[in-house]
Amino acid sequence: MAHLQLDSVSLRYEGGAPVLGNLSLDIRADEFVVVVGRSGCGKTSLLNLAAGFLAPSSGQVLVDGRPVTGPGADRAVVFQNDALFPWLSTAENVAFAARLAGIAPAERRAQADRYLDIVGLAGLGDRPIWQLSGGQRQRVGLARALAAEPRFLLMDEPLGALDAMTREAMQDLLLEAWNRTRTGTLLITHGVEEALYLATRVIVMAPQPGRIVRRLEVDFGRRRLAGESARSIKASPSFVAAREDLLDSIFEREAA
Ligand SMILES: Nc1ncnc2c1ncn2[C@@H]1O[C@H](COP(=O)(O)OP(=O)(O)OP(=O)(O)O)[C@@H](O)[C@H]1O
Ligand SMILES: [Mg+2]
Repeated sequence: MAHLQLDSVSLRYEGGAPVLGNLSLDIRADEFVVVVGRSGCGKTSLLNLAAGFLAPSSGQVLVDGRPVTGPGADRAVVFQNDALFPWLSTAENVAFAARLAGIAPAERRAQADRYLDIVGLAGLGDRPIWQLSGGQRQRVGLARALAAEPRFLLMDEPLGALDAMTREAMQDLLLEAWNRTRTGTLLITHGVEEALYLATRVIVMAPQPGRIVRRLEVDFGRRRLAGESARSIKASPSFVAAREDLLDSIFEREAA
């Protein structure tokens, strides 16, 4: 099974204080790992290391035991603000990697349609990007990442720019897409409820230097996938308790 590892990584930007200190994190292909923590604690830096955009100052990033030396097709990244190509159709955006790889148009289109279906945009392949809403564009970004059939999906606050209703719908979509593809996922969010709802494991980071202070296995997303309603899950005593517990960890509040 695919395995992404951050092995005792430290990171220091040139001339600055250590941003990450001796941090270790393992992600397996069937996990949905969500990272939360205060602003500036190093979440994006962690994701950039996993993506291979940055190299650690010490320690190693490994995929299946092999050191990561840069970005690669095995790790797809989704950013908060979609970076879609406005001059291409929705389908051609989704199939962009296939286009670069020289795959024939008909085959690209079939692939794009498959992933547009997964993100709930079936039938919109011919639309120009400018005719899509913000939430739809974010889904195109997700479809494009999934279409590359990565082993890992890395997302930095992918739902941060969406309104509350769209955001909740997108959470379900992320869960379903993960359930269908079982791509190992690392997602960063500011939303504690979002973290609990999506994750198989929540990681809490603390700042200066960025480090992991809490690891929490949860099963709320699996309850959702098994058919329980979002409302019932989020109102359940176990969810509310986990939320308070996480907030305590993030803000170092004293337990009452
Ligand atoms: N390219 C850079 N050069 C120098 N310092 C940086 C750089 N990128 C980030 N930092 C610093 O590293 C620290 C961690 O930043 P990072 O962006 O990883 O935090 P974050 O947890 O993602 O924050 P947020 O929740 O606000 O997105 C911050 O103090 C930030 O100022
Ligand atoms: Mg960030």
